[in-house]
Amino acid sequence: MKITVLTGAGISAESGLSTFRDSNGLWEDYDVMEVASISGYQKNPDLVNKFYNERRQQLSYVFPNDAHYSLTELQKYHDVTIVTQNVDDLHERACNTNIIHLHGELLKSRDIVTNKVYIQKDDITSETLSIDGNILRPHIVWFGETVDELQSAIDAISQSDMVIVIGTSLNVYPAAGLIDILDQNTRLVVIDPNPPAISRPVEYLRGTAAEMLPIFVVSLLQNGY
Ligand code: OAD
Repeated sequence: MKITVLTGAGISAESGLSTFRDSNGLWEDYDVMEVASISGYQKNPDLVNKFYNERRQQLSYVFPNDAHYSLTELQKYHDVTIVTQNVDDLHERACNTNIIHLHGELLKSRDIVTNKVYIQKDDITSETLSIDGNILRPHIVWFGETVDELQSAIDAISQSDMVIVIGTSLNVYPAAGLIDILDQNTRLVVIDPNPPAISRPVEYLRGTAAEMLPIFVVSLLQNGY
């Protein structure tokens, strides 16, 4: 079966990474347009670099949870594409494969002139340069920028027999709009303790990702539903 899994910050919550819009979410403490937009970066690159340096450093202290590992299991038996809005590396560290990072990756940087992408484990400052001598920026898709991976996500979703949405408020486009391209026959399952309203047939599994996804995956693999 072809399955696309669309993940958001909620799948990493039980690993210890804050979501954005829940109470105590990141956007309570930070102004999203200051730290996560191209205009914010142009205005104050040091502030934006610091915000992403902190997010990158945090990755050393967190680990994948049972939801990430369930996807590894699911991928052994089905043709699964993971479309994630997350910029952490927890899908990779759980040995998930076939991952599309819609919003970029914390562990990569990009040359602002050549657009070459590099592995980035250390902090980025205004003095961090690429081997070509140009400024390196976080490899993150900010508000106001194009989502280059969108077409790959559309291709995966439009060919899927089932889509599983996990831990996203579906507030941010174009990611949120991916649900709208599903035809009525595609099975849509949403795992979230506080799921977003969706105006098409949908099966809600109200609970956390680490609690509900392993149960759902076992049921799917053993019983076929
Ligand atoms: P949000 O913070 O908007 O939504 C998080 C979702 O996860 C909510 O629906 C929560 O109910 C749910 N949730 C919380 N804990 C959970 C758990 N343990 N298990 C399952 N679900 C849980 O995060 P996103 O939808 O991912 O983009 O946000 C989308 C984008 O907005 C991000 O990629 C980021 C942000 O601005 C950029 O910065 C470009």
